Amino acid sequence: MLKTKDILDEKDKRLRVISKEVVFPLTNKDKELINTMIEYLHNSQIEELAEKYDLRPGMGMAAIQLGVAKRYFVVVNEYDEGQFETYVLINPRIISNSVEQIYVENGEGCLSVNRPVEGIVPRYARVTVEGYDMDGRKIQVRGREELAIAFQHEIDHLDGIIFTDKIDKKDPFKGKEQMRAI
Ligand code: NI
Repeated sequence: MLKTKDILDEKDKRLRVISKEVVFPLTNKDKELINTMIEYLHNSQIEELAEKYDLRPGMGMAAIQLGVAKRYFVVVNEYDEGQFETYVLINPRIISNSVEQIYVENGEGCLSVNRPVEGIVPRYARVTVEGYDMDGRKIQVRGREELAIAFQHEIDHLDGIIFTDKIDKKDPFKGKEQMRAI
């Protein structure tokens, strides 16, 4: 079972690596890792389990956050009270996006960033992501609002980008008027 301490911290240089495209079929090791990621993200969003196993809550995780430089991520989204949906995306890319931009008002979060960070991280309000599922079948998923942000955040990890990079250092709330807070 994955523990919070297994997740690389923002200071770790490995998070800056550009992850490599996955070649199918997926190895058993990758399949196991993906299942461990799903389990962590799911449990971490259930208060009593998070407490029991000492998990930091998070809805998304990229393989590189566990030191595996391959282009895949998992998002477990609580779309309704206690109702979760799981997204596994391999070799993902954004194929379309809204013009409208949004940002998380209370600051975006990341399992690798163990501190509150204020400021605007500009994100598309809606995105369509194309990628592959665990069996190598091509899939398209659409996300809006928080889910759209999660997809963009995780794809950034595959390119060595952490959300804090996207905040204007001198003026963290720059561009506020052009974006909608969620
Ligand atoms: Ni993150």
